[in-house]
Amino acid sequence: MESSHTMNQVEDGHKLLADGGERVEQLLAESIDWSRLPDHLAEAAQYGVLGGGKRLRPILVLTCCSAVSGREVDAAAAATALELVHCFSLVHDDLPALDDDELRRGRPTLHVHSGEPMAILAGDLMLAMAFGVIATGPCPPNVRVSLVEELATGTSDMVAGQVYDTIGGLPVDISPLDQVRLVHRNKTGALIRTACRMGGLCGGASPEAMAALTQYGEAMGLMFQIVDDLLDITQSADHVGKATGKDAALGKRTYPAVLAESACQAEVDRLRDKATTAAKKLGDGGYPLQCLAEVMAVRTR
Ligand code: IPE
Ligand code: IPE
Ligand code: MG
Ligand code: MG
Ligand code: MG
Repeated sequence: MESSHTMNQVEDGHKLLADGGERVEQLLAESIDWSRLPDHLAEAAQYGVLGGGKRLRPILVLTCCSAVSGREVDAAAAATALELVHCFSLVHDDLPALDDDELRRGRPTLHVHSGEPMAILAGDLMLAMAFGVIATGPCPPNVRVSLVEELATGTSDMVAGQVYDTIGGLPVDISPLDQVRLVHRNKTGALIRTACRMGGLCGGASPEAMAALTQYGEAMGLMFQIVDDLLDITQSADHVGKATGKDAALGKRTYPAVLAESACQAEVDRLRDKATTAAKKLGDGGYPLQCLAEVMAVRTR
């Protein structure tokens, strides 16, 4: 009974991702003004933003807005902005100075495609454009200010996480597991939490609903990176569209580096349950969020 219920949610989650992914792709292609950029910069930025990715974060913005009875159209600019920041983070994450990766979303990474200087600069552009998109979006001015604040916090936490991941500087008086948790909450959890809170802001969420969305986003964010760590050791590059098997070689702080694989999986299950419990606090509107948590717990790419 319970398992067929869950299977329906996984199936519904796949549909939400497929439909949402198409809508987000269209938003990114059509709502961003690429025309005022020099041609080669526009080409590089579009290469880094369009045509790939699960689009989980913008889908969360849209879904969280709907979950609190907001109109999806009011969250479109925030969704676009958040995916721009995510794409910027991927372009810079792949640079030789960071993870030095040559495959992303099944294609050569941007620095392979356009050269390293252009990849750095196109990433900078995406970050700037993200804030521009919010500034010109449809929400009332006070909401736009809150969105800017939220996105700035999520982005700076993500950068702090990338510093911990790449350069180090973690507190030494905490356990190795707490260190990894700190890296993951920042480098990946922060933007996923921000996605949920931005959706709530666009939808006019009550303080109680915002608290539920925040709990949901925090659980989803940490779970997402643990799954990413597991995919690095269990999947092929062909399947996931990016290099795998590299985290251990690079000495990255990952969940499988500090816990047995079965314990990592148990942590994924615990966080999925935490996310679905938070989503249920939103009543019927939280159902799509439950489905997204179920599908993200079992994703293989
Ligand atoms: C990859 O994120 C970077 C991580 C935080 C693990 P995604 O797995 O969401 O990447 P895309 O957007 O689907 O390519
Ligand atoms: C990336 O973490 C987090 C970001 C802020 C981009 P990873 O380095 O594990 O992401 P992948 O595996 O390259 O997508
Ligand atoms: Mg990285
Ligand atoms: Mg990486
Ligand atoms: Mg990874």
